[in-house]
Amino acid sequence: MDKTKILIVDDEASSRTMLTVSLKDLNLDVVTAVSGKNAVACLEKATFALILMDVQMAELNGFQTAKIIRERETLRHTPIIFVTAARQEPADFFEGYDKGAVDYLLKPLDIRILRSKVRVFVKLFDQQAQLEQLRKMEAVGQLTAGIAHDFNNMLQVINGYAQLLKESLGDQTPHREKIDWILQAGNRGKELVQSLLAFSRQQVVRPETLDFNKLIREVHKQVLCTFMENVQVKLKLQEDVSPIFVDSGQMHQLLINLCSNARDAMPDGGTLLLETKAIEVKGENLADHPVDTAGDYIQLRVIDTGCGISPEALKRIFEPFFTTKDVGKGTGLGLSTVHGIVKQNGGSLNVKSHLGVGTTFTICFPVKKKHDS
Ligand SMILES: Nc1ncnc2c1ncn2[C@@H]1O[C@H](COP(=O)(O)OP(=O)(O)O)[C@@H](O)[C@H]1O
Ligand SMILES: [Mg+2]
Repeated sequence: MDKTKILIVDDEASSRTMLTVSLKDLNLDVVTAVSGKNAVACLEKATFALILMDVQMAELNGFQTAKIIRERETLRHTPIIFVTAARQEPADFFEGYDKGAVDYLLKPLDIRILRSKVRVFVKLFDQQAQLEQLRKMEAVGQLTAGIAHDFNNMLQVINGYAQLLKESLGDQTPHREKIDWILQAGNRGKELVQSLLAFSRQQVVRPETLDFNKLIREVHKQVLCTFMENVQVKLKLQEDVSPIFVDSGQMHQLLINLCSNARDAMPDGGTLLLETKAIEVKGENLADHPVDTAGDYIQLRVIDTGCGISPEALKRIFEPFFTTKDVGKGTGLGLSTVHGIVKQNGGSLNVKSHLGVGTTFTICFPVKKKHDS
């Protein structure tokens, strides 16, 4: 993930350095601008979570710069904090807030206060970005679900009548092959519609008690052995892990989607490792896992030694229709389906990837408790 950006605007090098150093180790991408004009140029190139700006500056001062920023449609919501040694009168404060500042800090600064204020704004910004992404997924999901439902109805008519035709014409008809083609395409369409419904979370989930290891062994035997040409498939399954309560058909689809991506990422061969493990998440190790609450989970990891995913692509891989593959090769629905399936079944997931090294998908499902029915 890219670091969140904040902008420091000050015409004095020593102040810029002081602010930059104070914010070190907040894990931010700190950009500095030497003038108001320079600041506006930086803001046009990238999105910032926060602007820390001096008031007294040559040419454009901070207030004038803020006015320009507030007048730009795309920049008007970026919060500005003024930091000043020179303008400390109440009238200056009011002018600062009037120009759209969210805060007005006086030098000498208390570093701890500065850091916690920056932290608050960065957190707000990050949450906003996540929310926007969710909304986008939701909107595309609704649209897709609508289309998929209509297609489903039409396909039912096509497949149903093709099947009837096949039965009434019997085996000897010269049209046998043509009808089979229709049925084959119709069934392919049905599968596609199921993917669309899965990712838009409209598929009916039929949870059952599932032994994940057993399912992985089955998929390994039936599918993976055949479709992984020069890829070595390894299983590292922890024995006797507790069952989970999920839709087994959807888990099958999830495994196939992740494994076919891994295969595509290793055209020159490599290793695909499927791993299961029981994990106990506590407060202190919560951050190491993709889950939100402490508890017992079964963790599935799908690890490949393929081409890896660039940081830019990584941000978008779960978006429906996002693909880096050629037309006809990728639909961009594999991972959005995986995402939908995991969420629908009460799980959580994350992905880590390094270009040229490989990719790891980690998925956790809560363990089915004894008293759960
Ligand atoms: N294991 C992987 N290694 C490298 N890239 C991957 C992997 N899995 C997914 N990707 C990237 O994510 C994109 C989206 O994947 P997906 O939703 O399955 O769609 P598709 O496979 O049809 O392109 C892929 O096009 C690819 O760029
Ligand atoms: Mg795919």
